[in-house]
Amino acid sequence: MVAPFYLVLIVSYFLIASGNTEVKALYAFKLNLVDPNGILQTWDPTLINPCSWDHIECRTDNSAFLVRLGNANLTGVLAPQLGDLRNLHSLELYSNNFMGTMPYELGNLTKLVTLDLFLNNLTGPIPDTLGNLKKLRVFFAGNPGLTMPEAGSPPSLPFGNSATTAIAGGAASLCAAVAFALAWW
Ligand SMILES: *[C@@H]1O[C@H](CO)[C@@H](O)[C@H](O)[C@H]1NC(C)=O
Ligand SMILES: *[C@@H]1O[C@H](CO)[C@@H](O)[C@H](O)[C@H]1NC(C)=O
Ligand SMILES: *[C@@H]1O[C@H](CO)[C@@H](O)[C@H](O)[C@H]1NC(C)=O
Repeated sequence: MVAPFYLVLIVSYFLIASGNTEVKALYAFKLNLVDPNGILQTWDPTLINPCSWDHIECRTDNSAFLVRLGNANLTGVLAPQLGDLRNLHSLELYSNNFMGTMPYELGNLTKLVTLDLFLNNLTGPIPDTLGNLKKLRVFFAGNPGLTMPEAGSPPSLPFGNSATTAIAGGAASLCAAVAFALAWW
C-alpha cells in the first residue's frame, strides 16, 4: 500500500516543520535576553524541537506546553515570535527584568491559560488581542508602566471569577481576567 506511506511522510513533515517554528521562536526570544546565570544554555537552535531544553515542558506533538522562567535573573524584551508557540498553555516570566511593551502577537496563543508577568518592568498597554483568549489569566502586578488595553473599557465587574471570565467576551473578558489576577495576588 502506497497511500499510508505517503500519509506518514506528510504527517512527519508537519511535525518537524512545527518543531522548527517553535525552536526558531524560542531562540529569537533568547537572542533578545541577557542571561547572566546561563540558564538558557541548553537552548540549542539546531534541534528539531525545544522539548529537551531546560525550562520548557512539552506534552503532545513535541510542542511547547509550558515555559518556566520565573525568578531567573533575565533582562530583555518579549520577542513577538513568542506568538508562534501554538500549543503553549503557560508562560511564566515573573520576577525578572523584562522591559519594553507586550507584543500583540501574544494574542495568537489560543491555548494560553496563564501569562505570569508579575514583578517585571514592562511598559505600555496590555494588548487588546489578549481579550480574544477566553480562558486566559494575566498576572501583571508589579509592572508600574503597564496600562489597560487601549481599546478596552474599565471592568464592570471589579472582581470577576473564572466562570464570569469564560462567559464574558472580548475586552471585557480580558479586564475580568486581569481583575481576577490582581485579586489573586
Ligand atoms: C543576576 O545577574 C547579575 C549580573 O547581571 C549578578 O550580579 C547577580 O548576582 C545575579 N543574581 C542572582 C540572584 O543570580
Ligand atoms: C499574530 O498576531 C498579529 C498581531 O496581533 C497578527 O497581525 C498576525 O496575523 C497573527 N498571526 C497569526 C499566524 O495568527
Ligand atoms: C525600568 O525601566 C526603566 C526604563 O524603561 C528604567 O529607567 C528603570 O531603571 C527600570 N527599573 C528596573 C527596576 O529595572
